[in-house]
Amino acid sequence: MNVKKLDLGYLNSKTILVTGVSRGIGKAIAEKLLLLENIVIGTSRELKSLDELTKNFKKNFYPFELNLESADSIDNLVNNVGKNFGKLDVLINNAGMLGEIKKLEHCSFKIWSDVINANLNNQFLLIKSLLPYLKLSKKASIINLSSTVGREPRADWGAYAVSKAGFEAVSTILSQELEDARIIVNTVNPGGTATRMRKEAFPDEDQSKIPQPRDILPIFLYLCSDQANETGERFDARDYIGILEN
Ligand SMILES: NC(=O)c1ccc[n+]([C@@H]2O[C@H](COP(=O)([O-])OP(=O)(O)OC[C@H]3O[C@@H](n4cnc5c(N)ncnc54)[C@H](OP(=O)(O)O)[C@@H]3O)[C@@H](O)[C@H]2O)c1
Repeated sequence: MNVKKLDLGYLNSKTILVTGVSRGIGKAIAEKLLLLENIVIGTSRELKSLDELTKNFKKNFYPFELNLESADSIDNLVNNVGKNFGKLDVLINNAGMLGEIKKLEHCSFKIWSDVINANLNNQFLLIKSLLPYLKLSKKASIINLSSTVGREPRADWGAYAVSKAGFEAVSTILSQELEDARIIVNTVNPGGTATRMRKEAFPDEDQSKIPQPRDILPIFLYLCSDQANETGERFDARDYIGILEN
């Protein structure tokens, strides 16, 4: 694997769905892919929060509503992808929610269920429903956003950690099952990155001292490219900060 040698000149004209592009990591990924002239389908629960991307990238950005707590909303998005694009080259499952940072014994079952639904159950549904379109690509890639606590569960991280651990398992299983379908499946742990979710988890942290969303893009761009053949792997975005020459 050589992320450093990635030639961004060849990463264009792909049809890429990125969930959760209203802010944070998803927005940074979407902006970079749009600057490279890919077609980006981007989502938010609130279409209005995608106005800036829509205005800045009139030609290639396609905004859609998606609420990962609702199977109907997923159905709607999948129908729109089928009708308007037919084929999908890359799916980046970025959207996610934190829920409560509390000891399990104090966690609300309602919030627990909402987090597991949004971060795991409905991510499975979204991937499963989009597979027919990914299979039409010459070479497809699924990138699932994970977390340190999804790989090493820790006290107080509750449903969030459990949902990400489950997502890691889904990713490994899928990577093996899709090997013959020319679809690679990997997880990326962004590591602590300056976003609203990070602020919710660490309100007292100085966000100017940790990586910004644009800093962690190299591994995502690599996994979107035709150069990536790895599958079933767990990447840490921080290992690739500053590595891209072009
Ligand atoms: N930042 C970090 O330090 C860090 C560390 C480890 C892992 N991660 C992971 O990285 C991913 C991106 O996080 P971020 O830090 O960029 O968070 P963020 O700034 O809070 O952005 C989250 C995005 O997900 C969308 N979203 C949230 N809940 C949703 C739901 N129920 N249905 C559909 N979309 C929903 C939001 O869109 P709307 O609110 O507009 O709908 C927003 O665009 C997440 O999967 C997170 O778990 C982040």
